[in-house]
Amino acid sequence: MNNDLKYKEAGKFEETRFEKIHNVIFENSNVASLAVAEEIAELIKSKQEANQNCVLGLATGSSPINVYEELVRMHQEEGLSFKNVITFNLDEYYPMDRENTQSYWYFMHEHLFNHVDILPENINIPDGTLKPEEIHQFCIDYELKIKEAGGLDFQLLGIGRTGHIGFNEPGSHFNSGTRNITLDHITRIDAATAFLGIDHVPRVAITMGISTIRKAKRIVLMAWGVNKASVVKETIEGEITSEVPATYLQRHDNVTFVLDEGASTDLTRIKTPWLVKNCIWTESLTLKAVVWLSSLLDKSVLKLTDKDYNYNGMASLLVEQGSAYQLNINMFNKLQHTITGWPGGKPNADDSNRPERNTPARKRVIIFSPHPDDDVISMGGTFDRLVEQGHEVHVAYQTSGNIAVADEETLKFAEVAFELNGGAKNAAEIIEDLNSKKNYDIDSPIVRNLKGLIRRKESVAATRYVGLPDEQVHFLDLPFYETGRVKKDKLGDRDVKIMCDIIDEIKPHQIYAAGDLADPHGTHKVCLDALFMALDILKKNKYMDDCWVWLYRGAWHEWDIHDIEMAVPMSPDQVLKKKQAIFFHQSQKDGVMFQGDDSREFWMRAEERNKETAKKYNSLGLADYAACEAFKRYHY
Ligand code: F6R
Repeated sequence: MNNDLKYKEAGKFEETRFEKIHNVIFENSNVASLAVAEEIAELIKSKQEANQNCVLGLATGSSPINVYEELVRMHQEEGLSFKNVITFNLDEYYPMDRENTQSYWYFMHEHLFNHVDILPENINIPDGTLKPEEIHQFCIDYELKIKEAGGLDFQLLGIGRTGHIGFNEPGSHFNSGTRNITLDHITRIDAATAFLGIDHVPRVAITMGISTIRKAKRIVLMAWGVNKASVVKETIEGEITSEVPATYLQRHDNVTFVLDEGASTDLTRIKTPWLVKNCIWTESLTLKAVVWLSSLLDKSVLKLTDKDYNYNGMASLLVEQGSAYQLNINMFNKLQHTITGWPGGKPNADDSNRPERNTPARKRVIIFSPHPDDDVISMGGTFDRLVEQGHEVHVAYQTSGNIAVADEETLKFAEVAFELNGGAKNAAEIIEDLNSKKNYDIDSPIVRNLKGLIRRKESVAATRYVGLPDEQVHFLDLPFYETGRVKKDKLGDRDVKIMCDIIDEIKPHQIYAAGDLADPHGTHKVCLDALFMALDILKKNKYMDDCWVWLYRGAWHEWDIHDIEMAVPMSPDQVLKKKQAIFFHQSQKDGVMFQGDDSREFWMRAEERNKETAKKYNSLGLADYAACEAFKRYHY
């Protein structure tokens, strides 16, 4: 089979002079995963026909989950057999028991091995239960076993933000074999959510080496989401260096990187296509290029010259437009028209150059907030303005957010309730459950309930502060979230129905939602999918013709300036008020459970991000605001 051709048919692939590794970009990780599963299945079948074993190198982590799911489906529905498959997993934490839900042994059985007909003796995973003195020999034997099996026919890889493949962290040698290794701090931060805090993440792992991986006959590396964009660019376009071990793959002659749009955003051909090829200059590409040029040269838009365009790959745009003068003015106006202090539209004003309609003057608005705090973190200023400007604003918290409340915080509330009520039964049970809880135990329903309540009451305190009546605050508690674990269920009909019901009840003119499109496994993406599905169902209703959807970004990223279609500026007083609203979410302050790779508290992130957006607008030559919130319209 010609793998390149197969991927070319399925995704987008264009070679450029910047790229040193064959890569294909898919619209999203789901379709990409199907293509990868298809390649693996074909390999297994072709080996079966030739009466041979198929030796697969396998990866864990979030990237391959959908590939395994599709292989399981193929086994169950299409009879794909794994009887001739021998697997070698890349790595395992050390020390690590097999039964630990965080072990890669557990992961592989849960996602693949328990559901297919692979022979148990054909499964090989580095052993996290060895004594330290046994590791060296184990690693030698692991290499030997791969060799005796005939070598890896296919190696599946993910990539860490450090550029690791397997757990070959920066510094790993081109010729390294299977060995134990100390995990990089960034890798441990990335694993902290799954381990419920960085203190529980092991410091060491056993991993196949770079040389072990390189010997595979075929390699497919998958990367999803904007978090991987910069390491993907470094790997595909950068020099080979031990500081980014994945760059060693540039020396392999049968490797494909399978990317989704998020992971590909930093590639030169995607980010700045005018540096690579002739472009069709749509209005949005023109704006993107002008904003880029302005920030590259540190000049405001109106100061860009013909020479600036010609020297930076945009000569064809200049020819099309005639001169920098008119082009600059057009783009400046376009940016200017995104700015409004009237996010719900300005009544009785000409709205031809405003982001929102002026009618109806009083709009019904739903702000969907994935967790009980994203509303104020991501759009607290706009929320405040909408209320102040007289719109009927509803907030709908999509999930309970209960797993993000620490046990210590919960115990505090249970103890207060216990003392108040002279030993109330529920409070006593909660205290007992929390005190007997071991690491990784799932909370009992009654504990989860209290955790959810804590977040509800914090939210209501914040929405009251912004001036919203309690009856306009809705807690949807979408069922997909209620597993009590980091890993959530798949989105189901019940979730979508709840979303449909609230939209149908309120019949909004505006919907705001968290548009973290690039994060494939986070709760925000699932909540957004639930909204998209609901919109799809409801769009046949007449009232939906008047409903515009605006997407804000969650706590982690902001829209790029050229993507912003509505920018709502904030005064210094409004910045303070927004901060105060975020403060009501006490359980999410001071060392929260799911901090991610950013040690700042949420109010700090929001404040700095909004300041940064205002600064960017200002450096393009627009007015100098204290802060700005940003939105992109979604057309359904
Ligand atoms: C997993 C492994 C790692 C992961 C990488 C990406 O077996 O060896 O290299 O592939 O850390 O992890 P995810 O897919 O969770 O982003």
